Amino acid sequence: CSADHVPSIDYGWNHHGLLASYDYPAVRRGFQVYREVCASCHALEHTYFRNLVGVTHTEEEVKKIAESYDVVDGPNAEGEMFERPGKLSDKIPGPYANKEAARAANNGAYPPDLSLITKARPGGVDYIFALLTGYIDPPEGKAILSGLNYNPYFPGGAIAMARQLQDGQLEYEDGTPATTSQMSKDVATFLAWAAEPEHDYRKKAGVQWIGALLVALALTGFYKRFRWSPLK
Ligand code: HEM
Repeated sequence: CSADHVPSIDYGWNHHGLLASYDYPAVRRGFQVYREVCASCHALEHTYFRNLVGVTHTEEEVKKIAESYDVVDGPNAEGEMFERPGKLSDKIPGPYANKEAARAANNGAYPPDLSLITKARPGGVDYIFALLTGYIDPPEGKAILSGLNYNPYFPGGAIAMARQLQDGQLEYEDGTPATTSQMSKDVATFLAWAAEPEHDYRKKAGVQWIGALLVALALTGFYKRFRWSPLK
């Protein structure tokens, strides 16, 4: 299993830890990486544009981003499908019409939907980071079929996806240097958010519940003493 392929070091993710939240500037940069690099092959089926509002961008910004996509809608009164600019209520459109088209464009390999990838693969964000930064030459004697690439973090070592991230490949709007590891960290953080957008709320609600239970415990203790004190 691929967990064996993930280095057992602590990458120090901002959102790991009992009370920790996502690093939102990283989520925003990670969306940029997804959009400019990964989205040409990988869908993000479960994310709607509206989900980005207040997370990666403001509502106005997301509206503009959505409008830059062509979304298939319909059927119209004539029974035909048509294209229109995206809206907040649309899903982020994927690159291919279906799985067959995705395979046909990738030499038969299927680029999986990335919505839940940090949950679906052992190692989660650590695995994604290791995979994206892990392309190296194959060890001597290890034959790699043409069309495949060597990556020790991918189970089996031979992956159909070539290295995608190179230093300086894109320009971050916040001026962060776009190194391979920075982009890998950011896109992994973005994908962690996509798979678990309720993460911060869940932790906050947990703290509130524990607080409420502590108050209830104190009140119960006090009431019990008060109620039974005449019988002592
Ligand atoms: C597989 C991430 C860009 C094509 C994968 C996997 C991940 C991933 C996590 C799954 C590995 C596994 O099954 O464990 C990303 C990210 C990208 C990116 C984060 C952007 C930074 C691309 C691009 C292409 C592509 C641009 C096409 C040119 C593929 C293919 C596979 C794959 C064909 C299947 C590999 C196989 O099963 O051998 N990618 N990818 N990816 N990706 Fe990407």
